[in-house]
Amino acid sequence: MEDKMTVKEILSLKGKRKMTMLTAYDYPLAYLVDKAGIDMILVGDSLANVVLGLDSTTKVGMAEMIHHAKAVTRAVKHALVVGDMPYESYQVNPAESVNNARRFIEEAKCEAVKLEWFDRCLEVTAEIIKAGIPVIGHIGLTPQTADKIGGFKVQGKDAEQARRLIEQAVALEKLGCFALLLECVPDKIAEMITKKIKIPTIGIGAGPYCDAQVLVIHDLLGLYERFTPKFVKKYINLSALILAALEEYKKEVTEEKFPSKEHCFSIKEEELKKLG
Ligand code: KIV
Repeated sequence: MEDKMTVKEILSLKGKRKMTMLTAYDYPLAYLVDKAGIDMILVGDSLANVVLGLDSTTKVGMAEMIHHAKAVTRAVKHALVVGDMPYESYQVNPAESVNNARRFIEEAKCEAVKLEWFDRCLEVTAEIIKAGIPVIGHIGLTPQTADKIGGFKVQGKDAEQARRLIEQAVALEKLGCFALLLECVPDKIAEMITKKIKIPTIGIGAGPYCDAQVLVIHDLLGLYERFTPKFVKKYINLSALILAALEEYKKEVTEEKFPSKEHCFSIKEEELKKLG
């Protein structure tokens, strides 16, 4: 698949067909995600948990995100690649936020950035869009500021909270975001938002009515065993397959079955003789 997805195409697909997004953080998996024809790749700050073994997404910064985003964009021919702005890269100062967003585009060759909702989200999002950088908003459960929203909980479960989410969605659409990620939101609220706004919604733990779905690739592949959220479907248990392969390798080496003749390089007898 070589036809490159664009922001315009993502916008135009709302209501025509469901779209797909997956995270990726390195060349080999980004290559496969792209080859499978997934529409969008998010270089997520979930990098912290599933790749770097950290306990919070707030523990990765711009240096790590750009490093991994570069590996992803090297592999991708089809999907739209979105860089996830890490904690404190956009919360502190709007001018610095624009510089950081620009690094995803210019250095890492991403096509858009994603920002989680926080109290100055509208001001910062407006500045980034004004700089010509396409933005995906992110509302509902926002892990970077989970401590301010009552922890890692479903958001919008009462009318007041749900109304706030709808207002945030409308405000982000009005500012010019081209898509909106909804994380851990009741399916009926995600449906209301999806019907109310003209930009595509991308759901994770937000039910089937969203225009697109996203999952963390390590969850989908069964490669992250520490914690599996309710909304995850494991399509394969790669951890078990990898472990079996590694144990087989260990066994063959200790039993002197690997390497066998087919994995060895040879030298002619006459050359060997010259060595005495
Ligand atoms: O970083 C991440 O993986 C995310 C998810 C919501 C997909 O932001």
